[in-house]
Amino acid sequence: MQVNGKPYRTIWPTADHAVEIIDQTRLPHEFVTVRLENMRDAERAIRDMWVRGAPLIGVTAAYGVALSMRHHASDAALEASCGVLLAARPTAVNLRWGVERMRAFLAPLPEAERAEAAWREAARIADEDVEINASIGRHGAELFRAMREAKQRDGRSGVVNVLTHCNAGWLATVDWGTALAPIYAAFDAGIPLHVWVDETRPRNQGASLTAWELGQHGVPHTVIVDNAGGHLMQHGLVDMVIVGTDRVTARGDVCNKIGTYLKALAAHDNGVPFYVALPTPTVDWTLQDGVQEIPIEERAPEEVTHISGLCEDGQVRTVQVTPQGARAANYGFDVTPARLVTGLITERGVVKANAGAMEALK
Ligand code: MRU
Repeated sequence: MQVNGKPYRTIWPTADHAVEIIDQTRLPHEFVTVRLENMRDAERAIRDMWVRGAPLIGVTAAYGVALSMRHHASDAALEASCGVLLAARPTAVNLRWGVERMRAFLAPLPEAERAEAAWREAARIADEDVEINASIGRHGAELFRAMREAKQRDGRSGVVNVLTHCNAGWLATVDWGTALAPIYAAFDAGIPLHVWVDETRPRNQGASLTAWELGQHGVPHTVIVDNAGGHLMQHGLVDMVIVGTDRVTARGDVCNKIGTYLKALAAHDNGVPFYVALPTPTVDWTLQDGVQEIPIEERAPEEVTHISGLCEDGQVRTVQVTPQGARAANYGFDVTPARLVTGLITERGVVKANAGAMEALK
C-alpha cells in the first residue's frame, strides 16, 4: 500500500539482517518505523502492539524466530525462542501457526544452515500473506459487485455501504488486509462504496488505523462510535458487514475484536449479511466451540480508564475518562457463533461457516 505516495509493506527485512516495522501505536498522528534487532524486540513489538492484527502477528513471530537464529541456532535456542514468542499474545492463532511453521522447517536442518534458511522462510511466509490477501480481495469484490447490482435492480442507489470493526486492513497483515482487501479491490475496480468504521474502543484501531489507511487510499468512509451500527442497520444504511478474525474454529465460530458479536447480532436481526474475511492459517482445526475454547486476551485496565489523542497544541497525550479508582475490565476479543456468519471470505473462495463447507479449506 502507499503512504504519502510511497509503497510500503508493514514489515520488511533490511540488508543487514534486521527487520523494520511500522510502529502502529503512533498512528495516525505520526508515521514512524522501528528496527527490530533480535527475537526479544519482535516479542515486545507483538506484546506492546507496535504490530497487531492476526496475520501480521504471525509474520512478525516468524521473523522473530529468524532473528533469534542469527544469534543462537541450537535446538535449545530454537525451542526457547519459540516459547517466548508463543507467549506474546494469546488469541490470534496465526502466532502459533507462524512459530510452528518455522520450528517444523528449521528443526530438521543442521545448525549451521538454520540462520539463512530461517530468513528465507520468514520472507516466504510474508510473501504468501500478500498473495493470500490479494486473493481474498478478488473473491470478496464479487460480493460488492453482486450487492451493487441487487441494489440497482431494486431501484436503490448503487453505492454499497459496508461496516467494519477494528482494523483488518493492510496494517493488520503484510499488505492488502483481510476485511479491507475486498473493499480495496472493489474500490479499485470502480464499484462505488462507502465504509462505516467502528471506532473500536478501547484502543481505537478503527478510528486511528482503519480510518487512516482508508484515507491514504482515498476510500470514502465515516467513523462511528461502537454502538451506532445497530441503529444504522435498522435504517437500511448498512448493506453488509465485513470483519477480520483472530481465530476461526473447525465448525466456523469466529473470534474477533471485542464488540464483533454485537454487530453480528444486530446484522442478523436486520437481515444484513455478515461476512468474515480470513486467510486459511486463521482456522484452528483443533477447536470446535469457540466460546468455550478460544483463549480471550485480557489487557491492562488503563486502556479502558484512559484515552490518548492529539491535543490542540499538537502533542499526543493520554487522559483519564473514569473517576479515580473506578474498576475496569478489558476483554480484548469475543466469539461470534457460526450461525450468525453469512460466509467466510478466504483465499480459496467464499464458504459457509460450518464444518462440512469448511472441509474445502483443509
Ligand atoms: O488487538 P488487535 O488490534 O491485534 O486486534 C485485531 C483484530 O481484531 C483484527 O480484526 C483481526 O486480527 C483480524 S486482522 C486481519
